[in-house]
Amino acid sequence: MAQKNITLLLGGQPHEVINFDPTRTLLDYLRYDSARTGTKEGCGEGDCGACTVVIGTLKDGKLRFEAVNSCIIFLPTLDGKLLLTVEDLVHPDGSLHVIQRVIADLQGSQCGFCTPGFVMAIFAHIRSGGGAGLASINDALVGNLCRCTGYGPIIEAVRRAISEQVDDHLTALEETWIKQLAAMSSPDTLSLSWICPDTGKERHYSAPKTTAALTALYAAYPEATLLAGGTDVGLWVTKQLQSLNRLIYLGHITELSQITQSKTHIEIGAGVTFADAQPILSAHFPDLGEVIRRLGSSQIRNRATIGGNIANGSPIGDSMPVLIALNTELALQSVKGLRRIPLEDYFISYGRQDRIAGEFVAAIRIPLPKPDQYFRAYKISKRFDQDISAVCGAISVTLDDGLISSARVAYGGVAATPIRALNTENTLIGAKWNERTIQSAMSALKNDLSPISDMRASADYRLKVARNILFKAYIEYDTPLSQTRLIGDGAAE
Ligand SMILES: Cc1cc2nc3c(=O)[nH]c(=O)nc-3n(C[C@H](O)[C@H](O)[C@H](O)COP(=O)(O)OP(=O)(O)OC[C@H]3O[C@@H](n4cnc5c(N)ncnc54)[C@H](O)[C@@H]3O)c2cc1C
Ligand code: FES
Ligand code: FES
Repeated sequence: MAQKNITLLLGGQPHEVINFDPTRTLLDYLRYDSARTGTKEGCGEGDCGACTVVIGTLKDGKLRFEAVNSCIIFLPTLDGKLLLTVEDLVHPDGSLHVIQRVIADLQGSQCGFCTPGFVMAIFAHIRSGGGAGLASINDALVGNLCRCTGYGPIIEAVRRAISEQVDDHLTALEETWIKQLAAMSSPDTLSLSWICPDTGKERHYSAPKTTAALTALYAAYPEATLLAGGTDVGLWVTKQLQSLNRLIYLGHITELSQITQSKTHIEIGAGVTFADAQPILSAHFPDLGEVIRRLGSSQIRNRATIGGNIANGSPIGDSMPVLIALNTELALQSVKGLRRIPLEDYFISYGRQDRIAGEFVAAIRIPLPKPDQYFRAYKISKRFDQDISAVCGAISVTLDDGLISSARVAYGGVAATPIRALNTENTLIGAKWNERTIQSAMSALKNDLSPISDMRASADYRLKVARNILFKAYIEYDTPLSQTRLIGDGAAE
């Protein structure tokens, strides 16, 4: 039975939203329906951070605060969540929140358009235990653009706010919020329907809570748009003005957000966000962790899922080449059951993947690294942070007494899909790990890649960079990662 309403905590109280377009963005709801105009609109596509708000989620009995871009989030995904906007930070007696005060004191704001977004991103950073080191602050703020102040005073304000300890009027409310959120949770699928007053067309939104419910629902409506973090799908509405008339949201399915580790592999549910996957992946594959650190911004990584990145199948998606080089297996689920395929086999051609009607990406399985395995991955983009790759490449070789006994090389941004470079791998396998072999592999690459020229890079540049990635991996063989990347606060100070 379709409902018309969702409930979230807004202004610290249970708040019902009734009879609305399920593709209405949270930002539009805040600005046009709730008079919360402190949250600003800049780009409308997740890039500038002006619209940053904080979502509180109940996880293992605790509240977890995450900064997100309200401009690309669909309103119904807020069901059962706590929402904090910049209006909530002001103390009930009207005085500024410590973060707002230190930004003002240190002159971290001029026109002020970006400031609410910064304040909310900083709030989430501090409340989630973020540090005062430069790299940690940079990572938290790369999704927030300021065109007039300069970042120095803002970074200083973060440090000052941390040293003053953000223990504000909101902290005292957390226990109450936890109880309220627990009382709001329901095991049943949320089903909403809405009739567009202009077209008379019905629009549906369902949020199943289990994989079994999702499997049945998607079998019944294989034409539905699956919605995970919405960092791709959101833009189909805000930028491409598409009408999405049936959405199935995956964000409430606990099974899809599990990470498990066995003696042989790590299994990551399709609904796990990059933010959640990063710690375990960084621990086993530091280079993959580094690619994830540069995927979008913290606002994007808090929403974007690994399953969404893979399912979207973009040739310039970052996780795929790295995961293919790591010999990742993909689990696909439908009413016919679960099937597992090598990740590289999933990408058939541009925009076409090996997925039957009603089938969804359920999980990925990555073999744990072996002692004699050498792995490197590189994201090459015009900007270091918050940019789409021109090329992303990864190499994994197993070395046996100086001989390469196995090799996997994969790239994004150099063909119509993420690809495995089989000719290049064949040049490497059985050869000595030396410069001559690498040069042969670099020559062989042209047989594997078919790069195009576009606004990000020319075909020539892409081929050259793809080759240089192999060479870089070779010359970095004996160098610890900490000396080759901007990792950690020490490196970036
Ligand atoms: C500002 C910005 C910066 C970005 N930067 C990067 C970047 O640096 N690198 C990069 O790779 N990407 C980047 N992206 C793209 C995007 O964040 C990723 O592709 C992300 O992983 C998509 O995941 P999602 O959960 O948001 O997917 P959604 O947007 O919810 O869905 C994406 C697609 O996958 C489908 N889908 C989702 N989950 C499943 C599933 N389980 N089974 C089947 N189909 C499914 C959806 O139907 C849709 O077709 C960026 C996006 C933005 C807006
Ligand atoms: S308005 Fe720019 S990120 Fe949302
Ligand atoms: S203060 Fe003007 S954009 Fe940041």
